[in-house]
Amino acid sequence: MEKFIINGGKQLHGEVEISGAKNAAVAVIPATILAGDICRIENIPDIRDVQVMLKILSDMGAVIHRINKNTLEIDTRYISSYVIPYEMTKYSRSSYYLLGALLGRYNHAKVAMPGGCNFGGVRPIDFHLKGFAKLGAEITNDNGMINAQADHLTGGVIYFDKVSVGATVNIMLAAVKADGLTIIENAAKEPHIVDLANFLNLMGANVRGAGTDVIRIKGVSSLHGCSYSIIPDQIEAGTYMVAAAAVKGDILIKNVIPKHLESITAKLRECGVSVIEYDDSIRVTSNSRCGQCKVTAMPHPGFPTDMQPQMTTFLATCSGTSIVTDGVWDNRFRYVDQLISMGASIQIEGKAAIITGVPKLHGAPIRADDLRAGAAMLIAGMCAEGTTVIENIYHIERGYERVTEKLTALGADIKKVDVCEDDNSKSVSDAG
Ligand code: EPZ
Repeated sequence: MEKFIINGGKQLHGEVEISGAKNAAVAVIPATILAGDICRIENIPDIRDVQVMLKILSDMGAVIHRINKNTLEIDTRYISSYVIPYEMTKYSRSSYYLLGALLGRYNHAKVAMPGGCNFGGVRPIDFHLKGFAKLGAEITNDNGMINAQADHLTGGVIYFDKVSVGATVNIMLAAVKADGLTIIENAAKEPHIVDLANFLNLMGANVRGAGTDVIRIKGVSSLHGCSYSIIPDQIEAGTYMVAAAAVKGDILIKNVIPKHLESITAKLRECGVSVIEYDDSIRVTSNSRCGQCKVTAMPHPGFPTDMQPQMTTFLATCSGTSIVTDGVWDNRFRYVDQLISMGASIQIEGKAAIITGVPKLHGAPIRADDLRAGAAMLIAGMCAEGTTVIENIYHIERGYERVTEKLTALGADIKKVDVCEDDNSKSVSDAG
């Protein structure tokens, strides 16, 4: 089993380059199905969730030509099936975007329910299905496979009771070739929603209002290939910002869009961290113990829920008492037990974590329960005294490209080892 071994207490200094946004890439890649043409996509992060999505498209008949590590040409002219079995969808939650893309192209999609991050319980897709039905699709569940079918799709007004990134993406994909106007109300406004809209419009779609509460989509008869570059990853950038604040040091985070990071910047400054914004980079400096703050994770432009575990970990060693509330997911605090085993003093009360800052965490054997909790464990290990061993690191590698290489270059003492459970022999890989 692969693990990370971290010797904590090493300050972070130097520069780190942010990769393309995972949550944009896993929406843009299935969107290429709608073109039935060749799309050239740049700045694609080389991470597990993207590799899984590309494998699904390849198994469906897409021809994928790798130009370099982060640039692909995806030819979806020869995709012949709208059926995606469980063997193909079980490793990635974002595989449900294939419903919208296949419905949008073929008026028919049959996709097995997905996997992905599990915050204690199956994550619902009722908003997605309600939206497809509004466009005229008939929805059935055939032994765990969602079957969505329509003679033709007709635009309509879709209101989401709760802001949903996934449902907003899926309806955008299904609606771009539907007859007439589709209006999505209470739409998600995350940067990756805007990125998807820009990509769809380059393919010839007519999507207006992405980034606001109301997205208007006028159906077009056909779409075509295009060239596009994925935006930088807001959450990867935020993770390195909070790592520098927690572990201490002075780092320059390159290839970012500072506007996407405004809520994270504001909260770190509130705690006494120095954050300087440049055109496409951001400098984070912290050399002394920081103060407490209150954080409420909300849909964009609020503080991102995908930064909640990392921020809680930083606040665990800040002075005073902090409160972190997650207004998006009901139970995204499972990782707190791991922090408590490292000496943190945190109590969960409903949707909130009450954090009493302690001077130091101490190293311990811990595990990554999901992608962003895993990122938080990396931060905890780097700022703890002593050695921390993290299990289940595949969660982390789903969403952070070359994470050991990037952290080692900043001065962290982190190694990835492959421990054979039976004889405990281990092969230590170098930084990569
Ligand atoms: C996306 O998940 C992200 N994943 C998540 O990031 C992120 O945490 C989440 O958006 C919120 O920003 C990807 O983009 C691949 P939602 P998604 O639909 O689309 C409820 C990461 O770390 N809901 O915005 O699944 C839902 O239960 C991952 O990169 C319904 O009730 O999230 C939740 O409470 C983790 N019914 C809220 O809405 C539905 O049909 C927001 O969920 C859909 C959602």
